[in-house]
Amino acid sequence: MNMKKAGQIKIRKMIISDYSGVFVLWKNMPGIGLDKDCDSKKGIKDYLKRNPGLSFVACDGKKIVGTVLSGHDGRRGYLHHLAMVASYRKLGIGKELVECCLKGLARQNIPKCNIFLFKSNASGRSFWKHNGWNLRQDLSIMQKETRR
Ligand SMILES: CC(C)(COP(=O)(O)OP(=O)(O)OC[C@H]1O[C@@H](n2cnc3c(N)ncnc32)[C@H](O)[C@@H]1OP(=O)(O)O)[C@@H](O)C(=O)NCCC(=O)NCCS
Repeated sequence: MNMKKAGQIKIRKMIISDYSGVFVLWKNMPGIGLDKDCDSKKGIKDYLKRNPGLSFVACDGKKIVGTVLSGHDGRRGYLHHLAMVASYRKLGIGKELVECCLKGLARQNIPKCNIFLFKSNASGRSFWKHNGWNLRQDLSIMQKETRR
């Protein structure tokens, strides 16, 4: 691990003024699927308001080098869009971002957290497995639009 580089990264709660830096990171990143409404500035603003203090950014000075969203529905936690700039990977920062979310969810008495992962994201799946996440082979996601 590059200790110097890792030591200069600070993790803090995400605020809406981080949006442009965070969006640049998500845009075109393999493994991250963006929704035109939920991931718009308004969508993220609403998400942060609904789930205060549960989403984070990792910064090298003013530059956002990593991010994650999390929230809950009162029963299960959900973690979305974990992403690190490629040159800042394998420094332990992605794991730390996830830990920040899990600690925040645990403080709100949410016992379990789910993630959604593209089946094509083999590297992401390997990251989650390596970090103790359980692949639920017995579940599938089904989805329907609310407005038609
Ligand atoms: C997934 C991602 C966020 C990991 O970030 P990272 O900062 O490199 O991860 P960390 O350095 O914190 O790694 C923590 C641990 O996981 C391991 N790890 C990291 N990436 C891994 C991978 N792809 N497969 C297996 N293990 C991995 C590290 O070696 C480290 O192990 P250790 O604690 O035993 O030493 C990053 O690779 C990324 O942005 N990927 C593209 C976006 C993506 O797919 N996001 C997930 C969407 S669901």
